[in-house]
Amino acid sequence: MGRVNGSPVKVGLLGCGNVGAALVRLIDEQADAIAARTAVRLEVARVAVHSPAKERPVDFEPGILTTDAESIVTDPAIDVVVEVIGGIEPARTLIRSALEAGKPVVTANKELLANVGSELHDAAADAGVELLFEAAVAGAIPLIRPLRQSLAGERLRRVMGIVNGTTNFILTRMTERGSSFQEALAEAQTLGLAERDPTADVEGFDAGAKAAIIASVAFGVRVVAGDVYREGISSITAADIAFARRLGYVVKLLAIVESIDDEIAVRVHPAMVPVDHPLATVRESFNAVFIEGDAVGELMLYGRGAGGRPTASAVLGDLIDAAANLGRGTRTAPNEIAKARIRPIDELSSQYYLNLEVADRPGVLAAVAGVFGAHDVSIKTAEQEGLGDEARLIFITHTARERDMQATLHGLHALDVVDRVGTLLRVIGGE
Ligand SMILES: NC(=O)c1ccc[n+]([C@@H]2O[C@H](COP(=O)([O-])OP(=O)(O)OC[C@H]3O[C@@H](n4cnc5c(N)ncnc54)[C@H](OP(=O)(O)O)[C@@H]3O)[C@@H](O)[C@H]2O)c1
Repeated sequence: MGRVNGSPVKVGLLGCGNVGAALVRLIDEQADAIAARTAVRLEVARVAVHSPAKERPVDFEPGILTTDAESIVTDPAIDVVVEVIGGIEPARTLIRSALEAGKPVVTANKELLANVGSELHDAAADAGVELLFEAAVAGAIPLIRPLRQSLAGERLRRVMGIVNGTTNFILTRMTERGSSFQEALAEAQTLGLAERDPTADVEGFDAGAKAAIIASVAFGVRVVAGDVYREGISSITAADIAFARRLGYVVKLLAIVESIDDEIAVRVHPAMVPVDHPLATVRESFNAVFIEGDAVGELMLYGRGAGGRPTASAVLGDLIDAAANLGRGTRTAPNEIAKARIRPIDELSSQYYLNLEVADRPGVLAAVAGVFGAHDVSIKTAEQEGLGDEARLIFITHTARERDMQATLHGLHALDVVDRVGTLLRVIGGE
């Protein structure tokens, strides 16, 4: 299999859409520079697509395109396989076949890894070949390799990320232009930053899949997408964002992975982040991942989380690594994966922000404060503003248990003088 300084490493590419076509172009542009720098020469030897007649931004010699992806993964002439089809099947079966045939695989497929990742990692370990997936989380940002290698000796406490560009764009527009959620979403759709059906992004499913992968890599534990507590941003109002700003916070959709005692907490939800926190400065469709560890302290990685060319850049990095390792007969050590209890959201603690619309009469504040107190939730700040016959109360709590805060919400809903209970937001990075 040694290809260093020899014949080119033959790449079998599964999928030639946004990422696949950008990868072909990058390899074309960079092949000489890569060969000079790494002694690896890459050649895209065969490419599987769904509709070969489709117009593409890249041209292929006759015989390279095929609809028979299985024939690529079992082709003895193919050295490395890149999967950029997406979805569960046929990607899962194709990757398994490639690994079983002894070929390293590079994939950008977060959905697959977050759902059946352990099966694929086991197949890679059994076959003694690599499965690399840098592009699956936070697109172009090098995150997986830093977590697995540069920070291998670090005792990590928490990894928090803005890992979905669509929702960060929407929240940026709501913050900076006062747009409603619907207006900001429509703009994201016009710009091609959001799908026609935006559910996976705005309801946090995409970020949830990435959180599961980050948890597995950062803490070496088995976490699947279904383990991740998830809330999206569709119920955030422009008013919530304006209140947050007034109080010195911005609202971000965060994927948060924490190690607490010997347990792991994994969640995705909108959160209020202090304006002076590094994550608060991440605007538009950019992504960033903030890492906290014992020795390293605080670390932030920032960049493009999506887009064909940025994502292809991360895929290409993996591909060069896999090809170079083939030449050397080595491979990156696979993650050791253990089992750990996933701590449910009920048992986590945080500060909270809550706004209420209440009747504007004497005794109301005391009644409301009594509900917080009855459930052991201590109020840090309270503000009141008049709304005609009503008043709006805005609270930030001290750190409280989620279970107690939910009981408080329940109690507030039941209170006669409370007309509307607004969005509950967790405050992160403050206390
Ligand atoms: N786009 C991004 O910004 C981004 C960022 C991070 C990760 N990713 C991940 O990268 C992967 C690819 O995304 P993408 O945006 O490039 O997707 P895409 O544009 O939809 O491309 C998918 C490709 O797969 C091909 N395909 C579909 N079914 C196939 C089959 N049965 N056999 C062979 N080929 C098949 C399609 O063929 P046709 O061209 O003939 O239709 C197309 O070329 C996904 O896992 C995605 O989550 C994407």
